[in-house]
Amino acid sequence: MRIPVAGAELEVHVSGPSARPAVLLIHGFPLDRALWNAQVSALSQWRCIVPDLRGAGDSTAPSPPGDYSMEQYAADLMTVLDAFEIAATVVCGLSMGGYVALELLRRYPERILAAVLCDTKAEADSAEARRARDAMAALAQREGAAAVGEQILPRMLAPATFAERPGVIAAVRAMMARTPVSGIVGALRALRERPDQTRTLDTIRVPVLVVAGADDQITPPTPMRAMARAIPGARFSEVPAAGHLPPLEQPEAVNRLLAGFLKELEGG
Ligand code: MLT
Repeated sequence: MRIPVAGAELEVHVSGPSARPAVLLIHGFPLDRALWNAQVSALSQWRCIVPDLRGAGDSTAPSPPGDYSMEQYAADLMTVLDAFEIAATVVCGLSMGGYVALELLRRYPERILAAVLCDTKAEADSAEARRARDAMAALAQREGAAAVGEQILPRMLAPATFAERPGVIAAVRAMMARTPVSGIVGALRALRERPDQTRTLDTIRVPVLVVAGADDQITPPTPMRAMARAIPGARFSEVPAAGHLPPLEQPEAVNRLLAGFLKELEGG
């Protein structure tokens, strides 16, 4: 379904019964909504709202730099919720999607029922990380999306995934290669300029589940456990044999965690 937002048009997949709580699934960088395919199938009892962020997947990719920021991604998703007349949602974001989820929790707490934060963090980029964003944007412009993908891939997945799941490697490569260059450059700008959210953590007043891939090199489990401790009442789960992308690498384990969390929310 196409949803117009400020200066762009998002592709949004919607499934499940409208009477149940909605779950908004937000992908990471440089990925798209296909990250969540296994979860959408497994969570068929719930209403899943799965957007391609601006500049990703089948959404339009405005030319950067003006139109990309965590604030803009979050505002786009508010427009999506409004379009479906969803007053409040469970939000589930992975990595950059987690940064967007934290922005939603900070700016629109009344619209968020609960949150799942996967393989993400609250801190802003260091000076070194910002330099790396600039170098990656230059690589994207010089050599295209696939070159960016090849640079990121070695750190994305667990050793077990590289050894045993060629289908997952191919799916990640394909997602990264089809991301428009203007979307990559825009996302890198949004990542580089994103606000520090460490002070948001103890303002969160909804149930939170923090999920970490045990072998995640990009957002490792130890700081993620510390992030969970900083959020009142948050729970922490580590997914064995997964790197930065547990929803793809260990879908059954992630499906169990999400379904358990959602059932508890409904029960409570
Ligand atoms: C992601 O998966 O979204 C990225 O690793 C986020 C980042 O580079 O900070």
